[in-house]
Amino acid sequence: MNTELIKTEQDGLERAAETAAGLLRKGKIVAIPTETVYGLAASIYSEEALREVYRVKGRPQDNPVIVHISSMDMLDGIVKEVPHNALLLAERFWPGPLTMIFRKTDRVSDTITCGMDTVAVRFPSHPVANAVIKAAGVPLAAPSANLSGKPSPTTAEHCVSDLWGKIPLIIDGGSCEVGVESTVVSMTGDHPVILRPGIISLEEIQEIIPDAEVSEAVNRKVGEDEKVQSPGLKYRHYAPECKVTLVKGSLERFAEYVRENYADGDYAMCFYGDEDSIDIPSIPYGGRDDARSQAHSVFAVLRQLDRIGAKRVFVRAPEESGEAMAVSNRLMRAAGFDEVIL
Ligand code: TXA
Ligand code: MG
Repeated sequence: MNTELIKTEQDGLERAAETAAGLLRKGKIVAIPTETVYGLAASIYSEEALREVYRVKGRPQDNPVIVHISSMDMLDGIVKEVPHNALLLAERFWPGPLTMIFRKTDRVSDTITCGMDTVAVRFPSHPVANAVIKAAGVPLAAPSANLSGKPSPTTAEHCVSDLWGKIPLIIDGGSCEVGVESTVVSMTGDHPVILRPGIISLEEIQEIIPDAEVSEAVNRKVGEDEKVQSPGLKYRHYAPECKVTLVKGSLERFAEYVRENYADGDYAMCFYGDEDSIDIPSIPYGGRDDARSQAHSVFAVLRQLDRIGAKRVFVRAPEESGEAMAVSNRLMRAAGFDEVIL
């Protein structure tokens, strides 16, 4: 298949949105930028396109996808009700990197929800994502635009590397500001439960709804046959080809540990400024106390390490709470929960 690449900076937002919408209306799928990561979008009303999304990504058939909207009106018809708590969160965080899970109506196909009676919905803030949804005129189902298992794509180049020749259009809207996927929160119970941490943290959500919590399954290994609220938790995600080990400890101990354990092809993933203290080849992925900068770069650095053929990567572990939970969670999963505490 021929893949077209449209750069919004050169070709304009309107041309990008119109081209994407034309394809989406014909039941085709397209990669689009959002503020979190790139998404692989399909009309929620095209079964053919929805199935193509799973096929192209190699996504397990029991991992549901998120529906993207560009106005609150679009919730009508796809969710049974919008609980009061959800309205409060929408008021504060939409448009933005928050996904909420609602009870679904019959209009939402089982292909999107994998047979569950709930649907995940997000109202992205990225101007390109918004323009594409508006032009298409329907909500768009979109998982991250990577091959299943690979780190999520945060630039159009990442989409090119995974999807070139497999989809008709990739829209290049530059690098994604947030860099990790949205916070996923279930709104179907009596209090919000975070099923996937993102840059909107538990603490920020608790400012609005104090009894919000993080699902206990989020930061641990989940067995393949285990029944969990979010099927995504079962899969090894974000996994680069190289082996990842998460190392917790001071810069001095970290430097000592990697020096002692170094073999040819090993790299360190560290914080800005750490490189001078570390004797093995190292790539920084953000500022030590700056979760936003870590989130922005973490997937890009994992992909870079694969490109240069890294065999093993020792990662200086980020903090585990606040905004950093999003980063720490992705790295723990990339490491398959392999960690060293110094
Ligand atoms: O930031 C994002 O959320 C990006 C951009 C493209 O919007 N999308 C994204 O989609 O990360 P995806 O498919 O890679 O991740 C969707 C996650 C999965 O972990 C899935 O299991 C969960 O959301 N999910 C979707 N529908 C669900 C539902 N009804 N109940 C529980 N979890 C659900
Ligand atoms: Mg994904």
